[in-house]
Amino acid sequence: MRKNFLVFGSPCIGQEEIDEVVDTMRSGWLGTGPKTHRLEKEFARYLGVKNSVAVNSCTAALHLSMLASGIGPGDEVIVPDLTFCATVNAVIHTGVRPVFADIKIPDMTISPDEILRLITPRTKAIIPVHLYGNPVDMDPIREITDRHGLMIIDDAAHAIEAIYKNRKMGHLGDITCFSFYITKNMTTVEGGMVTSENEEWIDKIKIYALHGMSKDAWSRFSDKGYKHYQVVMPGYKYNMTDLQSSIGLHQLKKLETNLLRRQEIWKMYDDELKDLPLELPSIGRKENRHALHLYAIRVKKESPLDRDELMNALFLKNIGTGVHYTALHLHPYYSQAYGYKQGDFPASEMVGDTTLSIPLSAALTDEDVWDVIKALRECLK
Ligand SMILES: Cc1ncc(COP(=O)(O)O)c(C=O)c1O
Repeated sequence: MRKNFLVFGSPCIGQEEIDEVVDTMRSGWLGTGPKTHRLEKEFARYLGVKNSVAVNSCTAALHLSMLASGIGPGDEVIVPDLTFCATVNAVIHTGVRPVFADIKIPDMTISPDEILRLITPRTKAIIPVHLYGNPVDMDPIREITDRHGLMIIDDAAHAIEAIYKNRKMGHLGDITCFSFYITKNMTTVEGGMVTSENEEWIDKIKIYALHGMSKDAWSRFSDKGYKHYQVVMPGYKYNMTDLQSSIGLHQLKKLETNLLRRQEIWKMYDDELKDLPLELPSIGRKENRHALHLYAIRVKKESPLDRDELMNALFLKNIGTGVHYTALHLHPYYSQAYGYKQGDFPASEMVGDTTLSIPLSAALTDEDVWDVIKALRECLK
């Protein structure tokens, strides 16, 4: 058995990130400034989009996307039932009613049939989530939103590197939101980014993200001399700092090589776990690129252990795992606030009850990966 605990979702941090953080610490400027602006430019270049705004989380990115595009109280936004709670909480923060939709299997992403069933005159937007890094099949969704005059706000928290039919993230929805949380494919510890081709929304997001002020701190205090600012709306404190961006600048450069490493780990799991009573994740359609964020395995009925028993058995063997996710409508807040109950979204419930994610990070050594494989084989033999 391995000696130390293998943490689920450990980040892959190198000397470059450490040196850049130290450089920022010594520079005299730690807040939002030149390094954050560089990260915004380089992130936009990576995706081939015009605009990107750095914020302090994907939750903030989602919240500001709705505010800037004029979605508000009285409106409804359709969200998948199988996602992280932040997708839905951001809708609620905006004063909007989230309408849950079931997923389709094997994609695990929002079902277009469900979207059609749930559209009302109050519906303003859909938030597709590219779950586990698998790009959502967007063409059928775009066809529906065009027909009904709805917006698409993409939750690409898992999927920076994903490609759908030759289109990178940022080119699918009207606004796209990214997460740089610690477990994500690229991290700034906490952080996020919004991209959109709509300049008016982008300008509003920049202002909303920093107190509603007409100028950010760097443009007020930089060597170009002090500038007055005006508060043009009651904004939020959602800005990213240069200290965080120092990590992000190097994480961004390593996205593609880290993806290659996760590809190797994914293949080792595919090869070594295929004879176990597990449904292994699919990398989706050939024409797309999966961002390989989470290797989520479904425990089959014939398994000697159910999902929770397996997680516990792996924990006792020093292997950390995660659940992505429990069907959202079963959480007390959402079921009480919106009247959802067991049985409302069968596909999402089934995945939520039987799936666990095993470690998949470019930081893992081959030895770590073999420890996971051996532990799973021992538990399920
Ligand atoms: C699908 C999804 N959306 C949104 C978020 C929120 O991201 P953040 O933690 O950056 O706010 C997460 C974070 O885990 C996520 O997994």
